[in-house]
Amino acid sequence: MTKPATILAQSGRPDRVQGSPVNPPIVLSSTYRNAGTEPGNIYARWNTETWHPFEQTLATLEGAEHPALVHSSGMAAITTALHAARPGRIVVPRHAYHASLVVARDMAQREGGEVIAVDIANTDEVISSLPGASAILIESPTNPMLELADIPAIAAAAHDAGALVIVDNTFATPLGQQPLAMGADIVVHSATKYLAGHSDVILGAALAATEELHHTMWDFRTRTGSVAGPFETWLALRGMRTLSLRFERITANASELARRLSEHPLVEAVTHPTLPDHPHRERAPKGCGVLTLRPVGGREAADRVVEATKLWLPATSLGGVESSLERRRRLADEAETVPEDLLRLSCGIEDIDDLWEDVDQALHSAVA
Ligand SMILES: Cc1ncc(COP(=O)(O)O)c(C=O)c1O
Repeated sequence: MTKPATILAQSGRPDRVQGSPVNPPIVLSSTYRNAGTEPGNIYARWNTETWHPFEQTLATLEGAEHPALVHSSGMAAITTALHAARPGRIVVPRHAYHASLVVARDMAQREGGEVIAVDIANTDEVISSLPGASAILIESPTNPMLELADIPAIAAAAHDAGALVIVDNTFATPLGQQPLAMGADIVVHSATKYLAGHSDVILGAALAATEELHHTMWDFRTRTGSVAGPFETWLALRGMRTLSLRFERITANASELARRLSEHPLVEAVTHPTLPDHPHRERAPKGCGVLTLRPVGGREAADRVVEATKLWLPATSLGGVESSLERRRRLADEAETVPEDLLRLSCGIEDIDDLWEDVDQALHSAVA
């Protein structure tokens, strides 16, 4: 079982014995029978059996030797990952998920360190920021600007500088790229997005390249209690079963929509890693379900496009089966270098022609 689609369908199921259920059970128990005389489960914050099928399946997909560590959210996993670095300077992408940047800044400030924001696509700039750094957080593609990093080159330079390499692989998913094989020390996910895939669960995960890092993160998760509920974890594995089908359709929809929109007379700019004008196409993961667009008419027109859609859902988040869009700068914490009129579109699994017709009618009614 080596191919992602097979791993997704088959991994994490109970043993193949007569009468066993097809799906793993959900164990709802905060504590375990344990008299303290023999090793074994003690308390569910330390270990919950229902986590294991999800954690093993994600680890296999990411090519990780150690199980994933499921967390209560993507932000909980990112917090754990950042705490695995020694205090000091953290290098972050200038554009990345805004809450990750806020957490990195808060943490650095409290520990007497600092955060340096760089253009993650500019490898020379990134590398020159690394000497003396304790960690670098990479998103590629970045959220929401879809910049692409040279992960192997940055990881090699970070290791020379003694910095921990953390890659947020939420956008690419393990089907798009496997950061551990590219040199990452830690991979994090907002499983809320493509992994779970149905906009019905908040969940995160962190994976480590070494036993030591795995243990450090396990310890932090256990002590701080950023653990996931059994039901949410079970639901995420259930959603993940169809990830290969969803990601194939979603990324095909996004590429085709980006191509059509790049020729639309009411569109100023479109960004997607498959478009010929993307500056770093060769660094793109195998598939990207998000694209950005800036309509003619600026911020007001962008707001009107969101309001005029009938099928696309005006909502934050991404990675669900339903297509959604939002103007990112409406969020107070979004970086000021993200254009005011930038719409982030998360493609779902609907028919491409319906998606296209709805964006097209929304553009015409907003810009006219
Ligand atoms: C790239 C990325 N990383 C992390 C997160 C945070 O994940 P969660 O909302 O599951 O905490 C998000 C949420 O939008 C995200 O887009």
